[in-house]
Amino acid sequence: MSETGCSKSLLLLTLLLAYLGQVPGEGGAFQRVFQTEETVRQNKAHEMRRQMNFRASPCSDFYEYACGNWETESTPLAKLEHRIDVDLMRLLEESAHRKDSALARQAKEFYQSCLVARAHQSQQQQDFLSDFIQQNGGFPAVPGSKWAAYNLEYNWAQVTGRLRRHYGMDILIGLRVSYNYASVQENSIYLSEPTTLIPRELCTKRHLNERDSAYKAIERLVATQLKTWLAMGNEESARLAGEIVSLEHELCGGMHGLEPWNAEQQLYTANFTRKTLSELSQLYDLDFKTYVSSIYDQTIFRPVYMAAPDYYRQLKRTLSIRNGTQIANYVMYRAVAALIFPLEDKPEHRPAYCLATVKRLLPAALGELYASQYVTEEFRLQLLQLYDQLKDALKRSVSADWLEEGSRRVAQRKLSDLQLILPSYEQPLALRLTLDRSNYWHNLRQLLDEVQAQQLKRQLEESPPMPADPVEAYETRVHYRPVQRRLEMGWALLQPPDYDERYGHALRYATVGTVLARQMATAFDELHWSIGLLEHDNWDPLTAYRYQNRSECFGRHVEEYLQHNSTATQLLINSSAGLNIAFNAYLTWLGLQAPNNDFVRLTKETLPGLNYSNTALFFLAFAQQHCNPKEQHYGEPNLWPTITYSVRQSHSWTRLAVNGPLRNLADFAREFHCPAGSPMNPSEKCTIY
Ligand SMILES: *[C@@H]1O[C@H](CO)[C@@H](O)[C@H](O)[C@H]1NC(C)=O
Ligand SMILES: *[C@@H]1O[C@H](CO)[C@@H](O)[C@H](O)[C@H]1NC(C)=O
Ligand SMILES: *[C@@H]1O[C@H](CO)[C@@H](O)[C@H](O)[C@H]1NC(C)=O
Ligand SMILES: *[C@@H]1O[C@H](CO)[C@@H](O)[C@H](O)[C@H]1NC(C)=O
Ligand SMILES: *[C@@H]1O[C@H](CO)[C@@H](O)[C@H](O)[C@H]1NC(C)=O
Ligand SMILES: *[C@@H]1O[C@H](CO)[C@@H](O)[C@H](O)[C@H]1NC(C)=O
Repeated sequence: MSETGCSKSLLLLTLLLAYLGQVPGEGGAFQRVFQTEETVRQNKAHEMRRQMNFRASPCSDFYEYACGNWETESTPLAKLEHRIDVDLMRLLEESAHRKDSALARQAKEFYQSCLVARAHQSQQQQDFLSDFIQQNGGFPAVPGSKWAAYNLEYNWAQVTGRLRRHYGMDILIGLRVSYNYASVQENSIYLSEPTTLIPRELCTKRHLNERDSAYKAIERLVATQLKTWLAMGNEESARLAGEIVSLEHELCGGMHGLEPWNAEQQLYTANFTRKTLSELSQLYDLDFKTYVSSIYDQTIFRPVYMAAPDYYRQLKRTLSIRNGTQIANYVMYRAVAALIFPLEDKPEHRPAYCLATVKRLLPAALGELYASQYVTEEFRLQLLQLYDQLKDALKRSVSADWLEEGSRRVAQRKLSDLQLILPSYEQPLALRLTLDRSNYWHNLRQLLDEVQAQQLKRQLEESPPMPADPVEAYETRVHYRPVQRRLEMGWALLQPPDYDERYGHALRYATVGTVLARQMATAFDELHWSIGLLEHDNWDPLTAYRYQNRSECFGRHVEEYLQHNSTATQLLINSSAGLNIAFNAYLTWLGLQAPNNDFVRLTKETLPGLNYSNTALFFLAFAQQHCNPKEQHYGEPNLWPTITYSVRQSHSWTRLAVNGPLRNLADFAREFHCPAGSPMNPSEKCTIY
């Protein structure tokens, strides 16, 4: 290695260590391996105990008992994801291994070029921007950007179409490709709402007072960006920022918040008109045809769905009262903002920014690096075994008497078809790139172009369609895919300190088990079972009626606890199902152990220094997944006026997520000796699965 290369990587290492140092008590992957089983178990017990509030009564508020001492300004899930990110940065930082695929090497190379890129005002960035602007219609606000040449023939549909094609940008038009819900074995194009610079919650019909201070803050941010990126003067940048934000603000007037696009949800709830692009172009007087053919380099004749009629009517109105200069300024500002380093770019923030870019552009490469480091065949077997046992437990639930015989059979078949898919990575092909470690901008441009080309090709060709956002190994997501009849799950939930096989099975079922079971049960909730997506997989009217009757019980619990809320009711139904299924599966596992032969294994079911039975530990671990920082200000509601709170009874939505499902479980009440009628042991118990 050359001398400069060497000192560079030393510098990077120091940065990374500084980054690690920000999180006390959380080493990266480095130390985990060397701990003995006893230490691991003691640490876990210590950590669980530290979060508890022993002055609280488990029978009046189990959340308070389990999480009352939670002192981190974050949730367990956010902490886990942060730790995974640190691991990912370290993996990308390492020089290429022999076992790395060509694609993974490209990800490392790209990441490293991103880390060392000089940012604002650097020559490379200026050259890149200047080229980019000239090639994409010009930027009227920037003198010498060839705007004049385009002025007369500026075609916004063509410009934004090309920006989509080569850079994956989503400006003025939100084009989505996902399952055609009328015939799920093929894909279709949807014209939907685009992403916006104004945050989603401020960008809807409902929220539209332009004098709101939030919009002023956005304007100031845009002005600062224009000054920093394009060396504009104070007045000019303030004027332009005002113009850009006001144009978008107008667009928000037609939006209902369809972003982020949820392909699976659309399958069940969408009801859009489907027409050809020519028809839609005429109907809305917007050139959709040019937009889409600039993306695909060909005319698309198949009809597409109009998913956002209000938005496109609003777009038409907005475009017709603005001149070309204003439109081009908006388009180019959005484009530049999507490419360039953020304003708060500092050496210590750079790794996180570069990681986010790799996640977005090369998720599979990152998944491969993660899987090869952290996933073992043993892990895979453990998880598949857990899944089988959850499946058995759910099968017993869907065989209950309240389901009619016919629907029971449908459910059992649906369940036995449902597979757990864990990401695995065969040596993928490299992208056609020539990466240069010292030229990030050159790399970024090629990468965006190549990634887009591949995605567009796949989306139109593949039948049956593949999910647009497959779950990668480093993710904590578990996702139900009705069309493919499967659950996808990442490996990240199986990382210490959240998961370690040495903690025992009670903890395994209580954490990974409940999360997985909850998603499995989703396949049998009202939405996913009342509409037969695939041939004959819906339920009969009597079963539907009984399901409805049972869900009303949950609705009553929610209403009594705080107030009527149908989202909270759905969540409670899901999480009760998750808890019940995982708990029953755990009991089955216990029953399968022979008391004498498996004695050693059974002694591992409790933790040293925590005086709880294995089943009590199960409930504790379940609860502690949901600890929440807001809740530590218990008793000082004035500090947090935004949370819905019933001060007198200290009821909140966060607490309901823990207390709600446990209240429905007789085994919980028995375990903690909760008298009948106490808050955690009400007489009316609700169950579905
Ligand atoms: C779909 O929309 C059409 C017209 O917009 C309406 O007549 C029809 O009832 C809707 N179908 C469903 C299932 O909502
Ligand atoms: C476009 O509108 C802006 C603001 O109303 C105005 O300053 C500008 O001169 C107009 N440009 C053209 C080319 O008409
Ligand atoms: C509806 O549920 C209640 C309890 O929640 C039960 O008493 C009643 O029998 C159920 N009705 C039907 C028709 O299943
Ligand atoms: C309804 O419940 C959800 C989830 O529990 C919560 O986030 C939301 O704030 C609740 N809505 C109202 C209006 O209280
Ligand atoms: C829970 O239920 C709602 C409504 O049926 C659904 O949208 C959601 O995906 C379900 N699953 C989970 C894990 O929350
Ligand atoms: C453990 O808990 C039981 C009851 O839950 C109690 O009788 C026993 O004294 C406790 N042991 C210790 C060592 O705290």
